Amino acid sequence: MNISLFTNQLLKWYPAHRRDLPWRKTKEPYFIWLSEIILQQTRVAQGLPYFEVFVERFPTVQDLAAAPEEEVLRCWQGLGYYSRARNLHACAKEIVRERRGEFPQTYQELLKLKGVGPYTAAAIASFAFQEPVAVVDGNVYRVLARYFGIATDIRSGAGKREFERLANELIPREVPDQYNQAIMEFGALQCTPHQPDCPACPLASACHAFRYGEMKELPVKLGRTKVKSRFLHYFHITCGDKTVVNHRTGNDIWKGLVDFPLEESESDQRPDPDRSLMLMELSALNPTVSLEDLPSFKHVLSHQKLMADFVQVKVSEDREADLIRWAERRAYQVVASGKLEEMGKPKLIVRYLTEQK
Ligand code: ADE
Repeated sequence: MNISLFTNQLLKWYPAHRRDLPWRKTKEPYFIWLSEIILQQTRVAQGLPYFEVFVERFPTVQDLAAAPEEEVLRCWQGLGYYSRARNLHACAKEIVRERRGEFPQTYQELLKLKGVGPYTAAAIASFAFQEPVAVVDGNVYRVLARYFGIATDIRSGAGKREFERLANELIPREVPDQYNQAIMEFGALQCTPHQPDCPACPLASACHAFRYGEMKELPVKLGRTKVKSRFLHYFHITCGDKTVVNHRTGNDIWKGLVDFPLEESESDQRPDPDRSLMLMELSALNPTVSLEDLPSFKHVLSHQKLMADFVQVKVSEDREADLIRWAERRAYQVVASGKLEEMGKPKLIVRYLTEQK
């Protein structure tokens, strides 16, 4: 295996092609950690504006720790995978409370932080503290599988261990930070998942996949988890300027955000006024209910495909007190539109509200 050729070519490629990204200009572990949490499961173009907002609103880990969770979730709105934002906030609090605001400086210690797995710990340890520990993310699997011709399933335990071992053999002790940035950047820009431009690649002459035409076959990813379909029937209940909201507290998607009262079913059958418990209860308030041509939205998450429709229920303002009593019994909250605007909401709800304007 031509380890030093691979590493040397990668280190030569990087300075000529690297993107100018703000988290590459700092050695401050707080900013590096922030960027890496934001960039998990997120493309650079999408994550960049969020990184800028977080740096501006929370310039230190103390500022982030002191912010209310609602504000952190609001800044995260639209990025998805909200447990990242809750872990980010919990981790900031822990660092301030238990470590006087100082980040741990080694891979092993970083791993103990909430929401920090092997990838993020390796990124912070190498970028901020020059520890020679290799990052292994989707880009790294792809580059190594193709260049070295490794056909082990990257989702299997054996595959993960094999790639991690190889990545840690390749990393140079002198410039671990440059190497880790380089291999991820190379995967993102040159050795792309689909249609990589191999004739223009400086590593092609020693690349297994290029030699045998196996770019499409490598890396091997088996056993995709099945995507589940869910049908959400939302009730957008308004009373003058007020709206009924549902705080998502259960162990489900969007925990910590707000959406609207809803009924979930096994099909896209729209709510029937004679069967829907929500509509039967609300009928006591004599509302105006729109049941025809409901606005509907499809929204795809990593393991779930959501189909949502929205029944609009308008309650007259002289019944506001009754609506509030009903909402309280069901643990919903009645909020003014300014407050709803400030609350962290799933993208699906934001899309619906934008289209209603
Ligand atoms: N994706 C995850 N971490 C990254 C980084 N540091 N630079 C570019 N893309 C990334």
